[in-house]
Amino acid sequence: MIRKCLFPAAGYGTRFLPMTKAIPKEMLPILTKPLIQYGVEEAMNARMNTMAMITGRGKRAIADHFDISYELEHQIRGTEKEKMLADIRDIIDTCTFSYTRQAEMLGLGHAILTGETLIGNEPFAVVLADDLCICEGEGVLAQMVKLYNEYQCSIIAIEEVDPSHTNKYGIIAGEAISEGIYRVHTMVEKPAPENAPSNLAIIGRYILTPDIFEILRQTKPGKGGEIQITDALMEQAREGKVIAYRFRGKRYDCGSIDGYVQATIELYEKEKQV
Ligand code: UTP
Repeated sequence: MIRKCLFPAAGYGTRFLPMTKAIPKEMLPILTKPLIQYGVEEAMNARMNTMAMITGRGKRAIADHFDISYELEHQIRGTEKEKMLADIRDIIDTCTFSYTRQAEMLGLGHAILTGETLIGNEPFAVVLADDLCICEGEGVLAQMVKLYNEYQCSIIAIEEVDPSHTNKYGIIAGEAISEGIYRVHTMVEKPAPENAPSNLAIIGRYILTPDIFEILRQTKPGKGGEIQITDALMEQAREGKVIAYRFRGKRYDCGSIDGYVQATIELYEKEKQV
């Protein structure tokens, strides 16, 4: 049973400057909910109840969001607006939140290693909240937990990208086990299209086995001088212990302006139809 979900949210979000000077990128709203709330709801949909946040300086708004606001709740009690807080109240009542800070932004792998104190020695999920995943029915993490139960190793979510965009992603190659499921052989961080082993890109959803922490401790800085999670996963892949999964659903890259605007428009259209 996977109970814990790690949210690395310490990045600077420079693509959204100046917005991200004082407000974390993970608090950008899509309609009325911040990105990180969508991530937490996806983890809950996969029956996880322990949310571990990796934050940094200037990220207090995240902790405040997942806390009770007595004054506000008192003000709107008994009014029409009360129901607007129902979802977040349910999250606060159902889940436990813990926080630790990544003091230096040394990369996603380093952010995950910083989470070891919150996770301990058990398999866990990782959500990058700026990859917003919208699915009909089961969320991506719930789909991935099923695979974890079957394979008992690290699971990474992938999608096919335009071959000219491989330099924005970790790219995998592997042996197809069944429709949309691969045993990973190779992983390359942000390869130029001519060096990419495929167009199967890793997106911001992982289930990791806890041996990843020891591997990350040994992992030297890679591309961009950062400690890369793909380099650590490659160690597990060498032993056949990484499964890549082409999930059912749609991902929006809300870390980019284009993806963020597209997500906003499409979710608005969807909501209007209800
Ligand atoms: P990004 O590559 O999107 O970087 O990180 P960023 O800083 O958030 O955004 P830009 O590129 O400057 O606009 C991917 C994810 O990894 C987290 C980020 O918070 C984001 O969720 N991350 C990255 C960390 O938590 N720590 C790091 O050192 C690096």
